[in-house]
Amino acid sequence: MVKSTGYKKIKTAVFISGTGSNLKSLIKFSKTKKSPISIDLIISNNSKAKGLKHAKLNKIKKKVFNFKKKHKIENQILSVLKEHEIKMICLAGFMKILSKYFISRFRGKILNIHPSLLPKYKGLNTHERVLNNNEKYSGCTVHFVNSKLDSGRIILQKKVKISKKETKNSLAKKVLFQEHKLYAKAILKIFNH
Ligand code: GAR
Repeated sequence: MVKSTGYKKIKTAVFISGTGSNLKSLIKFSKTKKSPISIDLIISNNSKAKGLKHAKLNKIKKKVFNFKKKHKIENQILSVLKEHEIKMICLAGFMKILSKYFISRFRGKILNIHPSLLPKYKGLNTHERVLNNNEKYSGCTVHFVNSKLDSGRIILQKKVKISKKETKNSLAKKVLFQEHKLYAKAILKIFNH
């Protein structure tokens, strides 16, 4: 369980790779009084990630790392996190897999959002696989990150109904809309709010 430290918000880094719509809603949430976290750093593996614009818009520091040499890069990220006194990490559309070593340095302090009802449909191309299997429902999950892909303890899930004419894009949009609410709810839940 993550412990809240009195009145001070917990310094959090958000890791992104793309659009950053989850990042945007996390920033909005972090500015509310009830939020136990503040967002102090944005990290990306992709210098072209659209979501990086939210750094400037919200005066949040950002750093881009090239993940080709993962071990070296992870050590650099760990120093930057230390420098910024980051105590928690939210993965939000971050498409790189963090090593066991990295995760062990932030055990129980890394959250991820995944666009399926885990443990079903771990990994990539979730919506396409859900539709190919003629599922009636899909959804999203916020979970703790452990060393196995999309497998850490589940904090919260939200189910959505799949319509007859659903496409992978319409499903992605429907699920994303729920993701934006679910991430904040899950953070409140782990801090017992
Ligand atoms: C979200 O649907 C998120 O759940 C998914 O990528 C999208 C990012 O959107 N993450 C994964 O698939 C992780 N395996 P965003 O950049 O607009 O937040």
